Amino acid sequence: MLSAAARTPAELAAMVDRRVAGLPIEQVVGWAEFCGLRIAVDPGVFVPRRRTEFLVRQAADLARQPARPDDQPASPARQPVSGTGQPIALPPTVVVDLCCGSGAVGVALVAALDQVELHAVDIDPAAVRCARRNIAARGQVYEGDLFEPLPVALRGRIDILAANVPYIPTEEIRLLPAEARIHEQRVALDGGADGLDVLRRVAAEASLWLAPGGHLLVETSERQAPTAVDAVARSGLIPRVVSSDELSATVVIGTRPALLPDRPSAQEDDVMQQPQMKLTATVLDSPDASELGAFYRRLLGWTLRQDEPGWLTLSAPGGGAALSFQTEAAYVRPTWPAGPGDQQMMTHLDIEVEDLDAAGAHAVAAGAVLAAFQPQDDVRVYLDPDGHPFCLWVTS
Ligand SMILES: C[S@@+](CC[C@H](N)C(=O)[O-])C[C@H]1O[C@@H](n2cnc3c(N)ncnc32)[C@H](O)[C@@H]1O
Repeated sequence: MLSAAARTPAELAAMVDRRVAGLPIEQVVGWAEFCGLRIAVDPGVFVPRRRTEFLVRQAADLARQPARPDDQPASPARQPVSGTGQPIALPPTVVVDLCCGSGAVGVALVAALDQVELHAVDIDPAAVRCARRNIAARGQVYEGDLFEPLPVALRGRIDILAANVPYIPTEEIRLLPAEARIHEQRVALDGGADGLDVLRRVAAEASLWLAPGGHLLVETSERQAPTAVDAVARSGLIPRVVSSDELSATVVIGTRPALLPDRPSAQEDDVMQQPQMKLTATVLDSPDASELGAFYRRLLGWTLRQDEPGWLTLSAPGGGAALSFQTEAAYVRPTWPAGPGDQQMMTHLDIEVEDLDAAGAHAVAAGAVLAAFQPQDDVRVYLDPDGHPFCLWVTS
């Protein structure tokens, strides 16, 4: 393997020296084979293990199944067709490779599935650099602690959350072969006293990020599986364990319960208890939450309830749902009306007024711009400083 990888005798000699010094062969040659793919592995970065291919297979199988009976399947094999027989475009499967290391799991899922929106996270800068090389244009790689660097817009949207977290109990690290113990980062291996500290943190937040019917997949040892199942169940996910003798692999899967049908049958009504739901705020994204919040404060005269970095909330005078603003670094200004391929507005605010002219003048003084296109007489469309359209309207 080394002689195939080396381009010169000097390079071969250097590689042999590094291997003799105990470096994993994958770090010496610079790549590992994973799910039939060649994954670049930089010095110090966790070498993807063969057993993790089992987690990838499980994740790919789940991604190809519909999340609930009325869902569209993510697999092209069951692609729905329109009335005219034309295939209907399906949304991509949203995959997050948490604790991605080299990015091997994410890359393998992109290769296995038809359309994937991939996001990957690691806390180790060397792993992030390596994953960026492997993932390239196939997805986004973020540096940070678990979910912290992910865009907030991913909340409630993740179909597959693959998290091969560190899970070796601290006391057992000294028993690992030198290749791992010395040449892989401690942060890639050490899972705390029982090995499940990181897993517990992932499980606790997973249901916030998973789409209804979405799945969390974590690798554990066979011995740890019952405790991991408990952690997954505590976060409201439906747990199960799958294992492969061939690969000595154990994976705990937690599934977020799918949404119930809109109109339950009378029989289902009897057994179903609607949980308490209260709409507390509409949230607008902005490149600067503080600036946009200040504009709406001038416009509406609402009171400031919360102002912290990246987040601002205004309270309505009579109570009810608030208006919040959050900073989104990757914010794309909408075009209204949107043409093909334009960023659409997705949502807009309707504001009732008594006098369109007076309210319009006030809006412009606050920083709004009258939209070029005006579709109705009793409504006037304005754009806020970030391009979100809002309507001033009067009852006729
Ligand atoms: C066992 S390795 C798995 C790497 C990769 N998923 C794979 O299967 O090859 C665990 C990875 O988790 C990363 N990690 C550890 N703690 C983390 C944290 N709090 N947030 C993000 N990544 C973390 C480590 O840097 C390491 O790359």
